[in-house]
Amino acid sequence: MQELERHKAFELASPFPYVLVVTQDKRDRPNIMGLSWWTFTSWDPLMIGISVGLKKYTHECLENHNEFVICFPSEGQKKDAWLCGTKSGRDIDKFQETDFRPAHSTVVKPPIIEGSTVAYECKITKHVVTGDHTLFIGNVVAIHGNPDKLNHLYSIHYTKLISIGSGGEIKMDL
Ligand SMILES: Cc1cc2nc3c(=O)[nH]c(=O)nc-3n(C[C@H](O)[C@H](O)[C@H](O)COP(=O)(O)O)c2cc1C
Repeated sequence: MQELERHKAFELASPFPYVLVVTQDKRDRPNIMGLSWWTFTSWDPLMIGISVGLKKYTHECLENHNEFVICFPSEGQKKDAWLCGTKSGRDIDKFQETDFRPAHSTVVKPPIIEGSTVAYECKITKHVVTGDHTLFIGNVVAIHGNPDKLNHLYSIHYTKLISIGSGGEIKMDL
């Protein structure tokens, strides 16, 4: 073992499962952000935590409306999924600028992204400020999925996305 600086450590620990978090802004417009700092935090009840930078537009949206949908983008959605991790909803409407299509959620207001492998609707029950991010923790209130879509996206540090199937198949160039 050798001592590492954090960028090298993140690269070595990659890939991380990459998700799209859909929120709703104060004008009731949905926004999408790319996120790899998420985790399940409880099995019963099922709960998910997402760590969102204090300055992100998504942070502002979550302060206004305490619900989110966490979608696992499928293989064919790489280009648009990357845009959502590199452009802010303060500057563009990501549903307008991408081929992502919203579908009605069953319980929460922010929509599901069509074509995701899995989508969890969540209602926030608590949040914890941790350094320069807030960990928003939500109860899962509905789950949707696409059993035909097996491959979803993983990030290699912050440089690119690759696709890995639930059966373990890997594709580097999508
Ligand atoms: C691979 C990847 C992973 C990311 N993970 C996170 C994350 O876990 N938390 C976070 O706050 N931002 C993360 N980001 C950055 C946001 O997606 C990015 O700043 C985005 O433009 C924020 O959008 P918004 O301003 O519309 O909320 C990630 C970006 C990439 C490319």
